[in-house]
Amino acid sequence: MINKRLLGLISDSKKYIGLNVLFNFMALISNIAIMVILAYIISEVFNNNGISFYLWIALVAFIALKYLFNVISSKMSYLSSREVKMTLRELIFKKLLKIGPSYNEKIMTSEIVQLASEGVDQLEVYFASYVPQLFYALLAPIILSLVLSFISLPVALVLFACIPLIPISIALVQTWAKRLLGKYWQRYSSLGDSFLENLEGLVTLKIYNADEYRQKLMNEEAEEFRRVTMKVLIMQLNSITIMDIVAYGGAALGIIIGLNGFINGSIDLFGILLIIFLGADYFIPMRQLGSFFHVATNGMAASEKIFKLLDLEIEDNEGLKDVAFDNDVIIKDLSFAYEDKKVLTDIDLVIKNKAITALVGESGSGKSTIASLLSLFNVYEEGSIRIGGIELKDIDFNEAMKHIAVLNHNSYIFKGSIRDNLLMACKDVDDEKMWEVLNKVKLGDFLKTMNGLDTLVEEGGSNLSGGQRQRLALARMLLKKSDLYIFDEATSNIDVESEAIIMEQIKKLKDEAGVLLIAHRLASVIDASDIYVMDNGRICESGSFDELMTLKGNFYKMYETQKELEGSIV
Ligand SMILES: Nc1ncnc2c1ncn2[C@@H]1O[C@H](COP(=O)(O)OP(=O)(O)OP(=O)(O)O)[C@@H](O)[C@H]1O
Ligand SMILES: [Mg+2]
Repeated sequence: MINKRLLGLISDSKKYIGLNVLFNFMALISNIAIMVILAYIISEVFNNNGISFYLWIALVAFIALKYLFNVISSKMSYLSSREVKMTLRELIFKKLLKIGPSYNEKIMTSEIVQLASEGVDQLEVYFASYVPQLFYALLAPIILSLVLSFISLPVALVLFACIPLIPISIALVQTWAKRLLGKYWQRYSSLGDSFLENLEGLVTLKIYNADEYRQKLMNEEAEEFRRVTMKVLIMQLNSITIMDIVAYGGAALGIIIGLNGFINGSIDLFGILLIIFLGADYFIPMRQLGSFFHVATNGMAASEKIFKLLDLEIEDNEGLKDVAFDNDVIIKDLSFAYEDKKVLTDIDLVIKNKAITALVGESGSGKSTIASLLSLFNVYEEGSIRIGGIELKDIDFNEAMKHIAVLNHNSYIFKGSIRDNLLMACKDVDDEKMWEVLNKVKLGDFLKTMNGLDTLVEEGGSNLSGGQRQRLALARMLLKKSDLYIFDEATSNIDVESEAIIMEQIKKLKDEAGVLLIAHRLASVIDASDIYVMDNGRICESGSFDELMTLKGNFYKMYETQKELEGSIV
């Protein structure tokens, strides 16, 4: 019923929970005092006796105290849950940063969003209400029974005997609840994932007229989610009904025994009034615990998923810093597999500093995988990638990222201004420098007709053309002075003019850094100092353009075929 790991997560939470229980307990004592005074006043009025003025003052004082203690305990609830929410969200965020760009191979984006928002919110009830209530609900019946035992021992004993029935009923539904809530969260995140995917792919779905079909699939998923939600509600309502029967049945039983004592004279009017007042309150803490329990179990089911994310084993890349990157990158005997699917075998490749190295080959031959290993998006186990004799995977990720820049065919443009997008690459760059790179990629004239650097860009750069988007991404890349530039199909899917502009900049970059150029259009690699040809995860040929053409191997065949297809362009 208590999750030690959750409690251990926040050092201050125990303090706030303790204080919460303490102030709840003081509110209970004030409440007992109020009931005692009220029962006494009523019995005195009934017996036609006068009521002392001080008694009224005491009554008002205890009511005020009870209010004050309740306010303080609510404050403690707030403090403990605030800490928890902040700490957990921070932990999730840090973990994601640590996992890095390939996080969605391990966990779905929508699941993270749901866990970090609603999942963490559900835990608020666990810390702010459930855990303090658990202690308070154990304490309150003992105190109340003790007070009632002075009036009537049988009543105190009967009420006390009913108390364990509530935790027993909670424990009985717990295994069921845990399984059901696990399923609930699974369906919830998978529905969220489908929703996100359909939203992202909406244009494609419309083009292929497939939106209706996808909607049908999502409706089915939504229906399953509705069903599991209903099951959760049924489980919660059933268990609350059982608790209500125990609570109100127990209170009624205690009061009936008390009334019996009143009739046969063993309990006086004050005594029976106190039994009725306190009897009605007797089960409330346990009953509340039951209600909190359901929300808390939901939070705990979410916390299990959160811990699963936090526990993902990530290679600690607390690696080397101050590495000189202005060196050749030497790849030797590099092999790599996604899970158990081997996609690279014994790769030997050198990316010379201040030169263009091209990587070509059939689709699926492993080119982007090499790029992803070079930019540490994936981590290699077999073979080596060395820069100036230092193993790339031993270098601190953030440090390496200062020296490596990647441009692929779908580089992301963020919502905001052109300036915002450029500042991402280099924080302390002035307007002049920004215009310089924008002119290099021939976006300057276009932006001058708009709002200059303050021109607003929509999410994903959707108000720019494909070519403009890619040229803006290149401008951003140029601002980030790097030692290794990786272009992975950076010019695919764009207009010829944009392609020429980008290629011109790539050629210039070789004067200051190493460039890896992955390209399908073989005409664009003619000037590369070395061309590596990949086939099915292996390097099958390498050399300069002329050498490969003389070799008349794979490259030659691919080049000739492309030339034929593209006609006069090549
Ligand atoms: N995240 C992944 N999980 C599993 N397999 C993957 C993953 N990414 C790529 N692959 C597989 O690895 C192989 C190499 O893919 P890669 O993207 O490196 O090819 P490529 O040469 O860049 O192809 P293209 O020219 O089409 O971009 C392919 O068979 C692909 O299916
Ligand atoms: Mg690729």
